[in-house]
Amino acid sequence: MTRVALVTGGTRGIGAAISIALDQAGYRVAATYVGNETEARSFQDRTGIPTYRWDIRDYQACKDGIARVEADVGPIDVLVNNAGITRDGMFHRITPEDWNMVIGTNLNGLFNMTHPVWPGMRERSFGRIINISSINGQKGQLGQANYSAAKAGDIGFTKALAQEGAAKGITVNAVCPGYIGTEMVRAIPEKVLKEHILPQIPVGRLGEPEEIARCVVFLASDEAGFITGSTLTANGGQYLA
Ligand SMILES: NC(=O)c1ccc[n+]([C@@H]2O[C@H](COP(=O)([O-])OP(=O)(O)OC[C@H]3O[C@@H](n4cnc5c(N)ncnc54)[C@H](OP(=O)(O)O)[C@@H]3O)[C@@H](O)[C@H]2O)c1
Repeated sequence: MTRVALVTGGTRGIGAAISIALDQAGYRVAATYVGNETEARSFQDRTGIPTYRWDIRDYQACKDGIARVEADVGPIDVLVNNAGITRDGMFHRITPEDWNMVIGTNLNGLFNMTHPVWPGMRERSFGRIINISSINGQKGQLGQANYSAAKAGDIGFTKALAQEGAAKGITVNAVCPGYIGTEMVRAIPEKVLKEHILPQIPVGRLGEPEEIARCVVFLASDEAGFITGSTLTANGGQYLA
């Protein structure tokens, strides 16, 4: 039996590495994105993994999108809530729009995506929900009140839902990456990265998207069936949660 995995924000960055790793592990994979058509098309051409466009801030769009994926690929066994954004700024400068964009995507997006797949997972007595949180949800980060709040919320969501899914064969876990070399991190000024961030990482480098993808493949597997409600930290030793 080939399992179906859906990866939000699965066309670039960490999400692309997750989609590819799940595909290589034998899953039928679908990947979503929100606006970067060029990257999504190139990803689909390169990998053969089908891509779907909708905004995870919109509940109805998620319901409709998931129905399309299920009609094309099959019932979703593994949901990877990976899509996320930053709108960094010191709190006194942060706007309500910045706050709502980040909470809408990084926290509400998890509800919008998980709620429609949950009944099917319960009926089939199997499911894997894997939420990509962040080191900055664990420790808090200056200039990221919105992002840290959302990512800490993702961990609370994971722990609560794990308790509801356990009796139905559904595991719910979070992965907390440290600083990974994607566009999101490359947006940080070079000077800040070199002088402030890299010296705080004991292994002395940024993580690779594939290193996060391997965590996800493990949590999705049957071998990880006893692991639920957990937070898998992958940050090069930067923060010991
Ligand atoms: N990079 C890091 O160091 C790091 C560290 C800790 C945690 N994380 C978390 O890991 C996840 C992936 O990060 P990344 O660095 O790979 O990000 P990225 O390269 O910026 O990619 C983000 C992906 O999310 C999609 N997306 C954004 N907003 C969306 C929305 N409203 N609806 C649907 N899709 C949306 C984007 O679609 P488009 O391509 O269409 O824009 C893109 O595919 C995020 O949750 C992030 O918070 C990253």
